[in-house]
Amino acid sequence: MSVTTHPKVSTHPEPQPDGFAFTEAHWEEAKQHLAKYPADHQASAVLPLLWIAQRQIGGYLTTGAIEYVANVLGMAPIRVHEVAHFYSMFNHKPVGQYFVQVCRTTPCWLRGADDLARTVQDKLGVPSGEVTADGLFSWRHVECLGACCNAPMVQINDWYYEDLTPESLAQLLDDLRAGREVQIGSQIGRHGSEPAGGARTLTEVGEAGHPDYPFGGGAEVEPEVVRQMREAAAAGGEGGGQ
Ligand code: FES
Repeated sequence: MSVTTHPKVSTHPEPQPDGFAFTEAHWEEAKQHLAKYPADHQASAVLPLLWIAQRQIGGYLTTGAIEYVANVLGMAPIRVHEVAHFYSMFNHKPVGQYFVQVCRTTPCWLRGADDLARTVQDKLGVPSGEVTADGLFSWRHVECLGACCNAPMVQINDWYYEDLTPESLAQLLDDLRAGREVQIGSQIGRHGSEPAGGARTLTEVGEAGHPDYPFGGGAEVEPEVVRQMREAAAAGGEGGGQ
C-alpha cells in the first residue's frame, strides 16, 4: 500500500482576516509535522501546529490563528477550537514573558501548592490570569504536570522547577526578574526522581560492571548468572557427549 506523506496543503496558506499566518520559518516547521501523516490524516498534526502558532504569537492563540490551523489541516474550525480550549498548554489571552503555572493537583497540594500559589501572587502582585505591568510575569493554576515525585512544582515557560518551598520559589522569581541564571529541575539538588538524599538501591550499577546487573557499565565483566549458565551448559555438554 502506498502512503502519501506530503501534506495536501503544499503552499503557504493565506493569512486569516486578523492577519495571522505562519512566518516562512514556522511554515517550514509546520510542514515537517504535516509530512508525518498521510494526506487524509492531516488532522493528526493539530497539536504541534497550534503549538507553533502559539509560539509565533508569543504565548497565546487568537481566533484567527486557530482558524488558520483549521484551514491548513482541512478541519472544521470548531474542531480545532475544541482542541485548543481543552488543553491547558494553550492560552487564549496574552501571558507574561515568564508564564508561571502552579500545579495544584493532590501530590503538589499535599506538599504545599497553596503556599506556592500565595507566594506567586504576593510576589507578582497580580491575580491568576493577569500580566504584571512590566509584562514580565503572569501565572495560573494548572492540574498535574506529571512531576509528582518532586512535588510541589511549577512550570515556567518550557521548564519545570521542583521540590519548591515558598522561599525557594520567591528566590526563583527574583532571579528571573533580575535576569540571573536559575537552576531548572529540582531546587534541592535531587537527581531526577531519586529519593531526597540520593539513591538507596542499585547504587553500584554502572560501577565497574556489578556482577548482578549485566546492563550496567563494564560489560567486560561476566555477570554471575551468565557464568553459572555457561558452566552448567559446559557440564551438560560434556556429559551428553560421552
Ligand atoms: S500533582 Fe503536581 S506534578 Fe503531579
